Amino acid sequence: MEGLHICKKNEYLEKSAQENGSISLLARGHNNEIMMQVIKKGNMAYINPGNSDELLEFLYILNGSISLRINDEKIILKTGDYFYVNKLKELAQFETNEDTELLYFSSQPVFFNISKRLNDLRDIAKKSQKKDLYTHDHGARVQHYTVIIANKLNLPKEKIENIFFASLFHDIGKIEVPDYVLNKPGKLTDEEWEFIKKHPITGMEMVNDTYYKDLSKIILQHHEWMNGGGYPNGISGDQICIEARIISVADAYDALTTDRAYRKGFTAQKAVEILESESGWKYDSVVLEKLFEALNEEEIV
Ligand SMILES: [Fe+2]
Repeated sequence: MEGLHICKKNEYLEKSAQENGSISLLARGHNNEIMMQVIKKGNMAYINPGNSDELLEFLYILNGSISLRINDEKIILKTGDYFYVNKLKELAQFETNEDTELLYFSSQPVFFNISKRLNDLRDIAKKSQKKDLYTHDHGARVQHYTVIIANKLNLPKEKIENIFFASLFHDIGKIEVPDYVLNKPGKLTDEEWEFIKKHPITGMEMVNDTYYKDLSKIILQHHEWMNGGGYPNGISGDQICIEARIISVADAYDALTTDRAYRKGFTAQKAVEILESESGWKYDSVVLEKLFEALNEEEIV
């Protein structure tokens, strides 16, 4: 049945071993995450206040016993007991009195901090950025503008979360493009161009085995053009997902304003003029407008 997910015992999206136990991501959607945490006897665990009043974290003891420390008081919670935090102002800590299994719900993503696979991808993203000879943090700058644009377009939280990660990982497939092709100043041969055209596909394949599968389409489409003249599939207009249209704009702006192996970076003003001339046929004009608004608000242009 569409929308129904049945999972058997010990099935999970990703499991991460930790020094004091393990944590498995069981389900996620609309920014919420449901996890199963196992903490061995005699370990301390912490709940951070988080940076939003909307954050709700709920922990249900499936098995075991913990001691919550509140000021000087010690409160013991056992199997079947639970607690949750919302608008938490200071660090909350507890200790496990025995091996303990907790069902852990969070209304905001937390698992990405723990995920081994995503951390591996972060390392690859850094390496491929280096290959591309971006001197500063290209991914973080692209991410800065994609998130602002997505918010300006009032995209749902889930799409903004996807954009956040896809911005960091969109060029991850360049890890397989030879360095001399990436930084070649002159015209590329057909064979070299084939390498470049493949990087969205390679990137898509690399995120396919993570629990962030939604990123694969965004990564695949980040070089498509509104008129169908892009790559790898030559799709056009609304066939290109909005997240990819946003990344394509932020990526282009950052590439234009950054020094590259083969040219100096343009001024912000010049970059805006170039992008304006490509509005509509290459880039989504509404998305581009939002980037210009953001640059204006930051008093960059
Ligand atoms: Fe790219």
